Amino acid sequence: MNEVMRIIRQRRSVRSYRDRPIPPEECRNIVEAGLYAPSGMNRQPVHITVVNGKERIDRITAELKAAVARTPDNRYRDYVGAESYTVNFGAPVFMIVSANPARAVTAQADCACALENMFLAARSFGIGSCWVNQLGSVTGDDAFQRFLQEELAFPAENVIFCAAAFGFPAGDFPPAPPRRGSSTWIE
Ligand SMILES: Cc1cc2nc3c(=O)[nH]c(=O)nc-3n(C[C@H](O)[C@H](O)[C@H](O)COP(=O)(O)O)c2cc1C
Repeated sequence: MNEVMRIIRQRRSVRSYRDRPIPPEECRNIVEAGLYAPSGMNRQPVHITVVNGKERIDRITAELKAAVARTPDNRYRDYVGAESYTVNFGAPVFMIVSANPARAVTAQADCACALENMFLAARSFGIGSCWVNQLGSVTGDDAFQRFLQEELAFPAENVIFCAAAFGFPAGDFPPAPPRRGSSTWIE
């Protein structure tokens, strides 16, 4: 089977990780894969924030929990509020994919394209990943934005469109769920 098709089929969301860092070269390749993704009108608005190490990632979890708790009607209140919740499932690397929507009307789609490229690159190194959707739910929270800018050098005009955990899986990659998408062929 073609190598790219093999990796596409093998990529899975991983929610349990080994306590093993990602080698810097592989991290750089994952980021590069994201930055090589297509973007609407080639605006390339994507910015990737790479956060390495348990303490820094734990700070993100703590700040997110506080922001969700003070956001009225946040849809993740119970999920993020659970004591066991962390943004990274114990993974050693957390990446935030953001863009300035004023720079590109396709900012959200551009970020999603970037992240899927990153997932596939990671899988090619035997590295697992999982999209983490909760950060976008506190976009309007001033204190969370301040934390991002002051501690993670986050660009002030950017919005978080996606984020993900990366690391070596604790066990095997999970099996693929049955495919439910469909296609119509007009030939
Ligand atoms: C837009 C989007 C948001 C997601 N958010 C989360 C999330 O917040 N937490 C999580 O554990 N998985 C999340 N996932 C991963 C999906 O649950 C996962 O892709 C799906 O169950 C299929 O499994 P697979 O990735 O192994 O094929 C998200 C995936 C997408 C595309």
